[in-house]
Formats: sequence, structure tokens, C-alpha cells
Amino acid sequence: MSYNLLKGKRGIIFGALDENSIAWKTAERVHEEGGTFVLTNAPIAMRMGSIKDLAAKTNSEIIPADATKVEDLENLVEKAVEILGGKIDFVLHSIGMSVNVRKGNHYTDMNYDFTTKGWDVSAVSFHKTMQVLYKKDAMNEWGSIVALSYMAAQRVFPDYNDMADNKAYLESIARSFGYFFGKDKKVRVNTISQSPTPTTAGQGVKGFDGFIAFAEKMSPLGNATAQECADYTITLFSDLTRKVTLQNLYHDGGFSNTGVSQEVMEAFTEDK
Ligand SMILES: NC(=O)c1ccc[n+]([C@@H]2O[C@H](COP(=O)([O-])OP(=O)(O)OC[C@H]3O[C@@H](n4cnc5c(N)ncnc54)[C@H](O)[C@@H]3O)[C@@H](O)[C@H]2O)c1
Repeated sequence: MSYNLLKGKRGIIFGALDENSIAWKTAERVHEEGGTFVLTNAPIAMRMGSIKDLAAKTNSEIIPADATKVEDLENLVEKAVEILGGKIDFVLHSIGMSVNVRKGNHYTDMNYDFTTKGWDVSAVSFHKTMQVLYKKDAMNEWGSIVALSYMAAQRVFPDYNDMADNKAYLESIARSFGYFFGKDKKVRVNTISQSPTPTTAGQGVKGFDGFIAFAEKMSPLGNATAQECADYTITLFSDLTRKVTLQNLYHDGGFSNTGVSQEVMEAFTEDK
């Protein structure tokens, strides 16, 4: 169903790799709601993924940018404003990657070059993106910037590895930069803490299948899907949530506030 919630709004969407990506589903929903945008991803993802299909489907242009490179981000923002014909109303940062996770390094045996790289891609890139938007004064008043997070920022999930630390840093950047963006430009900044979701990044986490099944059984409403995350994100891009800022918003079917569920109890209760 479409409500024309984003009619006339312009944006930048980072991180659509394939049709499972949260950013892909969000781009489709934004398009349905009347928003226009440019798509961006790391140059290497252009070769791996199918972003061109999404661009054709949503009448969007693609501007490659490595989100760790400030010069790429400057080019992206300049071109986006030019192509879209005005300042930006919404930005989705949907980027995450840990080299330690990819290489199977345990949290107690990190390679710190990999740690630094993952931190730069997954967390500092959010600061870089906002700093470029801020300095270029490229956001419209009452614009909205959203990044995606996970609850391992608050609680221990052993196999989430250094991504837990990256997400904690990302959420802190949202608050700190959100303060200045709010004060100076009336722009809101939030993170969405999403359920485990079967995407390329999600499935990279060790033991993902068990993990997603456990979360499903723990959450009173079940896991939130990528499609549902897209639905939630467009509300944050719309004018209906103008005073929501500096928040980490759980979108997880209630998982984060559940101590234990009946189903999980039953799995540990012997029949007498
Ligand atoms: N899948 C899950 O279980 C889950 C749960 C909570 C939060 N998240 C977060 O959602 C976001 C999106 O991930 P997803 O699950 O849709 O997976 P995904 O693999 O589809 O998306 C990750 C994206 O990051 C991009 N990326 C990596 N390095 C980059 C760089 N240097 N510059 C620009 N882009 C780069 C990739 O190309 C890819 O498009 C991430 O922040 C992820 O941590 C995912």
C-alpha cells in the first residue's frame, strides 16, 4: 500500500547489494511512496551485486562511492544534489562489514588492521557521510538521516565479534552528530536496531541460522523482516516523525525487552 508519504522528497540510499539487502527493500518502498533518490555503493559492490536492476526499476542513478573515502562522499553529495535538482531530505546508511568476521578471527584473537578497517567501514563512514552533508549544507530543514544497527551494541552476542563494538560506536555517532545537525540545520539523526535478517552481511555472522531461529522464538511478534524494516524506515523519512532524533529505535518484534519466552522455556524444560 502506498500513502505518498515521501512525495517531492529527495535522498541518498547507501548499501543496496542485492534484493535481500535492507537498503534494496527500502529503495523500493521509497519509490512507491513518491520519493526520488540516488543509489550508491562501494565500487567493488557494483561488480558483485545487481544494483543496476534496482536503478532501472526505481528510475534512479547510481553514483559509486567508497563510504570510507571523503573525496568519494563529496563527489556523491555534489552529484546527488545536481541530479535530484535540490537539497537532500533523507539519507539511509545501510553499510556494515567486519574483516575479522570474514576471516573467522575470534574476538580474543583480533587482527587490529582488520579491526580498524571494519570500524571505518561500519561506523566512521557514518560520521564522514554526515560531515560531508553538513559542511556542504546539503540537507533540507527537517531532513532525516538513518543508519542501521544491531542490539549487540548493548548486549553480548559472542559471534557478532567486533561488529558489536562498531555498532556501539555507530549509535554514539548518531547521537553526537545528531545534536549538531539538529541545532544547526533542523535535521534528525537516528539508528534503527533491526532483528537478525537473512542478507549477505547477516549471513556472514557465524551460527546465523541458530541465531535467527532463537530470536524468532524469543520475540513476541517474531523477527522483523527486511521488508518491515523498509516500512519503518520510510516513516522516519516522512514528515510524521519530525521530532524523533538522537534515538536508537528497536525494530525487533519485542526481542530487546523480552527476558525469556514460553517457547524458549519449553526447550529447556524436561517432561515429567
Ligand atoms: N542482516 C542482519 O541481520 C542485520 C541486523 C541488524 C542490522 N544490520 C545492518 O543493516 C545494514 C545493511 O546490511 P544488510 O543486512 O542489508 O546486508 P548487505 O550485505 O545487503 O548490505 C551491506 C552493504 O554494505 C556495503 N558496503 C560494504 N563496504 C562498503 C564501503 N566501503 N562503502 C560503501 N558501502 C559498503 C556492501 O556493499 C553492502 O551493500 C548494515 O549496517 C548491517 O550491519 C543487519
